[in-house]
Amino acid sequence: MKTLRYFVAALLLLTFGLNRGSAQNLVANYLRTEYKVSPVTDVVAPRLSWELTSPERNQIQSAYQILVASSPEKLTEPSADLWNSEKVNSRATAQVVYAGKTLTSRQICYWKVRSWDKAGQPGAWSEVAHWEMGLLDKNEWRAQWIGLDPDTLGKGKIYQLPPAPYLRKEIKVKPGFRKARLYVTALGLYEFSLNGTKTGNDFLTPGWTDYDRRVYYQTYDVTSQIKSGTNVLTSQLSYGWYAGYLGYALLVKNPVVRAFYGKVPLLKAQLEVEYPDGHTETFATDKNWKASFGALLESDLMHGETYDARLEWPGWQKSGFDDRKWQKAEVYPDRPGRLVQTYPAPPVQITGTLTVQSQTRRPDGSYILDMGQNFAGTIRLRVQGKAGDTIRLRYGEKLFPDGQLMTENLRMARATDTYILKGDKNGEEWMPKFTYKGFQYIEISGLRAAPAPETIEGLVIGSELPRVGTFETDNAMVNQLYSNIEWTQRSNYIDIPTDCPQRDERMGWTADAHVYVKSATFNRDVSAFFTKWTVDLNDAQYENGAYPLYAPRPNLRKTDTYSPGWMEAGIICPYQVYRSYGDTRLIREGWVNMGHFMDFLEKRSNGTYFFTEATFKDLSPKGGFGDWLSFGKKTPPDMLASFYFAYCADMMAEMAGAIGESDDQKRFQEMGQKVRKALLDHYQASNGRFKTDTLPYGDGAGYVDGKLGFMAHTQTAYANAIYMDIVPPKSMPQMGKYLAELLRQNDGKLATGFLGTKPLLPALSATGHSGLAYDLFLSTEFPSWGFEVANGSTTIWERWDSYTKEDGFRYNAAMNSFNHYSFGAVCEWMFGNAAGIQELAPGYRHFRIRPEIDPKSGSDRINRLRAGYHSVSGPILSAWQKTSDGILMNVSVPVNTTAEVFVPADSAGQVVVDGQEALASPDIRVESQANGYLVLFVGSGNYEIVSKR
Ligand code: BGC
Repeated sequence: MKTLRYFVAALLLLTFGLNRGSAQNLVANYLRTEYKVSPVTDVVAPRLSWELTSPERNQIQSAYQILVASSPEKLTEPSADLWNSEKVNSRATAQVVYAGKTLTSRQICYWKVRSWDKAGQPGAWSEVAHWEMGLLDKNEWRAQWIGLDPDTLGKGKIYQLPPAPYLRKEIKVKPGFRKARLYVTALGLYEFSLNGTKTGNDFLTPGWTDYDRRVYYQTYDVTSQIKSGTNVLTSQLSYGWYAGYLGYALLVKNPVVRAFYGKVPLLKAQLEVEYPDGHTETFATDKNWKASFGALLESDLMHGETYDARLEWPGWQKSGFDDRKWQKAEVYPDRPGRLVQTYPAPPVQITGTLTVQSQTRRPDGSYILDMGQNFAGTIRLRVQGKAGDTIRLRYGEKLFPDGQLMTENLRMARATDTYILKGDKNGEEWMPKFTYKGFQYIEISGLRAAPAPETIEGLVIGSELPRVGTFETDNAMVNQLYSNIEWTQRSNYIDIPTDCPQRDERMGWTADAHVYVKSATFNRDVSAFFTKWTVDLNDAQYENGAYPLYAPRPNLRKTDTYSPGWMEAGIICPYQVYRSYGDTRLIREGWVNMGHFMDFLEKRSNGTYFFTEATFKDLSPKGGFGDWLSFGKKTPPDMLASFYFAYCADMMAEMAGAIGESDDQKRFQEMGQKVRKALLDHYQASNGRFKTDTLPYGDGAGYVDGKLGFMAHTQTAYANAIYMDIVPPKSMPQMGKYLAELLRQNDGKLATGFLGTKPLLPALSATGHSGLAYDLFLSTEFPSWGFEVANGSTTIWERWDSYTKEDGFRYNAAMNSFNHYSFGAVCEWMFGNAAGIQELAPGYRHFRIRPEIDPKSGSDRINRLRAGYHSVSGPILSAWQKTSDGILMNVSVPVNTTAEVFVPADSAGQVVVDGQEALASPDIRVESQANGYLVLFVGSGNYEIVSKR
């Protein structure tokens, strides 16, 4: 239905825009391959994307042509030797699948594209972009896994935090080479250097995967880093996710607390040097490498590092270093079946730096440094002193009222770094690099004098995801909230979407990920990031089809399995990638997994197509985590599970349609209907209210907050029922009424938890209660987003009152993260409702701008809002402001897209577009007038719209 409308609209646009001049200026830019600019990829048929600009309005691409060649010189129509797509009549600008000659490992492919406009005029060729093929076959790895077992340091010595190994090898490169590539990975974490200089700028490589199944490698162009003659290859390894401590295993006294995948960190690297005659020399890790322990005495992701600079091996990265005291590296067998693949996501990097904002001396002589912002990262330390001076760094998100560092909320994460000086007169510099912390404050002790401004530099780390969103209003609280959301995303999108960056957790919790995924898309380009994590999810899927609590899934606690409200991430996240980026490949590649999950749900419902009370009582906690962190009586987890069942079936039906699986489409459409009917028969009373039988829950023991009792008539129930289209359209107003009523009965306050908060404001807006949504959004009373801001937050907190000026910390040592994005999922409403940017066709090829204007005015309200979203189809803008006699809107619609713009107005006569009456404007079409909005159909361009209401 949606698609049909979209085509009709596009057709109309073509006709009414046709005679409006030709545009030779249709230019393709921002060329990407597999979502990235000039990447290395091992996808054999990579997908190509570009964006279009044109000075002309209502512009579309009527056709495109792509050329791919083995050199930039060959990138002409007659000589493009890899692919000439010829002219393809199509509007596609994203995910165009390469369909040229079969590509081989290491091949560099140059490409360019041009587009024809609506009048059939070809634009200029784009600038040249390229991609490079990685190693497509595992057999091309000549490198072996090498490492050094800390047990070699002494029999029977048991380390809680073992030292980290160093590896080195000198090689000879012949003169005249033309290209050099380093392919490198580790089981654990690595830093690789060539002649003493780190290769690349990446951090925490090679990332976290289920290492039993796959490990990713990085590829670095090191042509300018090597020289003819002797070169020194060195690497430092650490334990990382592979061999270090993970999550709360220690806290819950799990029999295994570290080394979940293996005990000894291992390196696998090969340097390939190519000469003009085409022959290549490969230098690979093997038994001829030397290994040793050294200065890095302790190195753990969560616990931190200890570095004794006195134990450094001077010159170990230079040629001629005497490594006779070093041991031979040990070669370890590969695990058969383990895949070695190109890292598919943007790398984790240092994405910014922070300086100390203020410092305070503590009675014990230590100093507290305030970085002014809570974040995830590490530091650079610059000190001068005597050999043996010991600097200790502890990290925390908050201070106690007396100024002491608060670390209880880190639980078992030691989060401490220690640096022992060697006494260099020129000063010493150190960066803990195989660890990160979530912090705003640093306690530094052991200095001989007060810290100087350069003593500590904060290094922000995170997956380097292009920023795509901006959100600005005339309300300072809202602007701070948006900054908090952005920082929290930045602090937790670190290779995987983690729950929090500070305590002993940092896991890819699935509910956190799925409630926030749509919000995330508005802030950063998360396409490749979620492509990677979807693989992690599928790797972590249980044999019975359930998706896990967290992915990757080490065995942190025996009872951790799956939970309704969490496991659905396996469907929701790929679905969101499809909606936001038009990606169908992710659907196809995960289709079997997703189908398996749906089978699981079906089976688990015992043919009833819903989940009756206490269905999931076999889980731990019983019923799963439910509406985690909600207030008051619990929404029955089984009812929510049933909602999710229907919601997943709908998404599956739509995705089946997108990949042409018509049998599946039918199956899931029917499934969605069956589930709805079954669950409403059971959980809905004749007056439309949700109800539940509390008897099967007994006294609630074993359920999360089960002692509070269960109730189906809750904010969370209606918010989800509306958001997931659980009830038929005619019942929606009633659902909205119940929701609004429940809010009023609760003093206008939200009572929702993890599963109820995301849909709460969108559900209010969808049922005509936008004003109520605004009241909640702008509230500064507990519990609310504004309450956190009023209490000094710079990130989103796990609990609304994680800290209050009155009561301090109430939940410490248990669960009290100050950097937890789940409740930041309100971002979806901010962009989707307040700014009103809503995609109508996958990849924003057709979208809606339907701003909801704050009905109240004043300094504590929103009177002006400006939201930018750089979609995969180009930059979208929705800005509005209240004027003395109406509303002024500014809207941008990217080339090759169309939009329905909803202008708050009671009639067409009130609306002026770019100084011309809407009805008379040649560039737009007035579509309809309904519910206080005049709907305009517009093509690409920037529009200034005035509504005099
Ligand atoms: C995490 C959450 C997660 C939850 C499961 C917590 O400890 O930090 O965000 O989803 O456990 O309920």
